[in-house]
Amino acid sequence: MARVFSGIKPTGGVHLGNHLGALQNWVSLQDRADAVYCVVDLHALTVPHDPDELRTATLSLAQILMAIGLDPDRCTLFVQSHVHEHSECAWIMECTAAFGELRRMTQFKDKSEGSDFVSGALFTYPALQASDILLYDTNQVPVGEDQRQHIELTRDIAVRFNNRYGDTFVVPEAVIPEAGARVMDLQHPTAKMSKSDESPQGTVLLLDEPSVVEKKIKRSVTDSGSEVRYDPAEKPGVSNLLAILGAATGQSPQRAADGIERYGDLKAATAEAVIEMLRPIQERYHELAADPAETGRLLAKGADKARQVASATMARARANLGLLEA
Ligand code: AMP
Ligand code: TRP
Repeated sequence: MARVFSGIKPTGGVHLGNHLGALQNWVSLQDRADAVYCVVDLHALTVPHDPDELRTATLSLAQILMAIGLDPDRCTLFVQSHVHEHSECAWIMECTAAFGELRRMTQFKDKSEGSDFVSGALFTYPALQASDILLYDTNQVPVGEDQRQHIELTRDIAVRFNNRYGDTFVVPEAVIPEAGARVMDLQHPTAKMSKSDESPQGTVLLLDEPSVVEKKIKRSVTDSGSEVRYDPAEKPGVSNLLAILGAATGQSPQRAADGIERYGDLKAATAEAVIEMLRPIQERYHELAADPAETGRLLAKGADKARQVASATMARARANLGLLEA
């Protein structure tokens, strides 16, 4: 069975872009692959953070992932910092990645511009991500479109390492869904939907109350004209709503447009589909959130399973690199 690995950062709340672009895919892959999913808390340290918020966000994200359907009996679900091999392997990845490759990463450019403090780790971030992926002999990495460049770099690092030191890492590939691969901000439909603190009205969070979801979608920015059709270049706002409606109801954005004539009807249909999609997720989340100790036990079991694979890969890498045995 193919090994699948993916990760998500515990920052800012899970939004519709995460869900439709990546997480839905994670859920369906559980039954078709040997799936390993990670809450990447070390990646959250690359920007200034509040310790209490990080702790709360990490636990809550694990509960959201279980609420959307990740089942610790059918996948390996764990927290990155619980498996020390991730940071150990990251150093080796930094030694294998070229400076010029890291400098070309658009996520670094986007995130560093205009910040008061840019950490060294924000620059080497993709090396930690490569470590996450390569530690698990990963074949496939389900992510949204924005991560394509990082997965390409991971492949290049794996190939380079194997050429230099002998076969050590499996070379992975990205799996990017067609529908929902890039969910755009409801207020700025030419920018991708991202953390809520950047655009609270443009971002639908999975834990938003139905009335909030409805308000955000009904106030979304649409385009000039009045025709409802899928055309991201000419009609970014309408096309984004169609992509969301399609992804939420399991059909293409073009198909989702069938029978909808007015912008108002499109917004109403989209709001309803999203609210219905989120309802069972929110119910399950509130049950899980009531018992944090149980979540902790499940995450500890997940980390034990993950460590078994990661430590075997690290042993291979150490030996091939010529690090003296302890
Ligand atoms: P992050 O929240 O940055 O840790 O992202 C977690 C996952 O969600 C990654 O696979 C991203 O590619 C995906 N993702 C984030 N934002 C979007 C978006 N606006 N549209 C589609 N996928 C997204
Ligand atoms: N960098 C990814 C993001 O910003 C999160 C991530 C970290 C990840 N490690 C990963 C995704 C490994 C896939 C595989 O969304």
